Amino acid sequence: MLPFTKKNIKFVSAIKKRIREDELTKLRVKHDLWYKAFEKQEGNKVWLDGKQYLMLSSNDYLGLGVDPRVREAARDALHIWGTSPTGSRFANGSRYYHQELEEQIADFLDQEACHVHSAGYLSCVASVSCFLGKGDVALVDKNVHSSLWEGLRLSMATIEKFAHNSLASLEEELSFVFHDRKKLIVVEGVYSMEGHVCPLDKVVGLAQKYDCFLVLDDAHGFGVLGDRGQGTADFFGVEDSVDVICGSFSKSLASTGGFVAGDKELIDFLRTYSKQTIFSAAINPTQAAIASKALEIHQNEPEHLERLWQNTRRYHALLESLGLDFWESKTPAVPIVAGNKERAYFFSERLKEKGVYANLILPPGVPPGKELIRTAISASFNDEDMERIEEAVTYAAKALV
Ligand SMILES: Cc1ncc(COP(=O)(O)O)c(C=O)c1O
Repeated sequence: MLPFTKKNIKFVSAIKKRIREDELTKLRVKHDLWYKAFEKQEGNKVWLDGKQYLMLSSNDYLGLGVDPRVREAARDALHIWGTSPTGSRFANGSRYYHQELEEQIADFLDQEACHVHSAGYLSCVASVSCFLGKGDVALVDKNVHSSLWEGLRLSMATIEKFAHNSLASLEEELSFVFHDRKKLIVVEGVYSMEGHVCPLDKVVGLAQKYDCFLVLDDAHGFGVLGDRGQGTADFFGVEDSVDVICGSFSKSLASTGGFVAGDKELIDFLRTYSKQTIFSAAINPTQAAIASKALEIHQNEPEHLERLWQNTRRYHALLESLGLDFWESKTPAVPIVAGNKERAYFFSERLKEKGVYANLILPPGVPPGKELIRTAISASFNDEDMERIEEAVTYAAKALV
């Protein structure tokens, strides 16, 4: 008998075999289209294999990631607070900078209180999982973000999906739910893949008619919608009628991290029960300082929001003139729907030829038939950048026909 060594007896479990044989992973690794690591970045430009690209898929809508004051705030925070609070807010990880950022966000959103996490994903999971329980019913727009589905699954509530942005479908689902069940509606303010705006005022109407708690994920509406970029609830004038607003710092605030805002009693409850809040380390000083400085600049300098919408209108007009399907996006989150994976890949490669980089989104990220290139407009794009985008998109659109 051979002696037992790792070299000659390699035990492979059934789970490891399943992983090894997974077709989707094999395909992904073979085609190498995602997880691209850019070797360099300067402002809104990135470098891949030595070539420079304008990044047309960044969610830095207000362009504040390139602002030197934001970088300086991050450096100062690192100097003052060190690298990490190394613990959860519940335990040893709370600092003054967390409280200051929470007050700043709550004020900006006209909410009583706020809690910040180290990722928007955590904030969104927490926003649904901790307010719902077994026996409750969640009514969910079928296109909401993965983080919200994760929170719903953890809550063990009954889930009823309604058709995307359809008030008729939402009301139909509500009419079937027994009167005595506790109900929660989950929507996004701006749908990240489609760029659609939720008809939030009407959703609020239904939430009140049917006695529902309302959760709004405003990751892509925060900083973008409303006269002062306060987000979707402000845009519709319903900030008093949404129970919880959650979102991310990785879009308009050019950082990473996320927030949950609402009445103080809700945030106190979240701090008592949310596992994502209690058992995960607090947001670090640099992330928080970036978000805080970016929000301060956004509040004091309306020109970034103005520039964002000026660029967005110009881009929408271009896509319209080229006859491209952009899923009726009304916002700076703009998909270019190609309809199948070959066309989507072809389009993104043509953009790259002209020095523009944009994400390719295939099922299950979108339904089959909606394969797309997910583009996003930023206030950081100057006229020269916009001309480069126009040239590349026109070239790709003409090559596609
Ligand atoms: C709608 C929506 N919600 C939540 C998140 C999660 O945010 P983060 O990337 O900060 O974890 C995202 C980011 O992709 C998002 O698009």
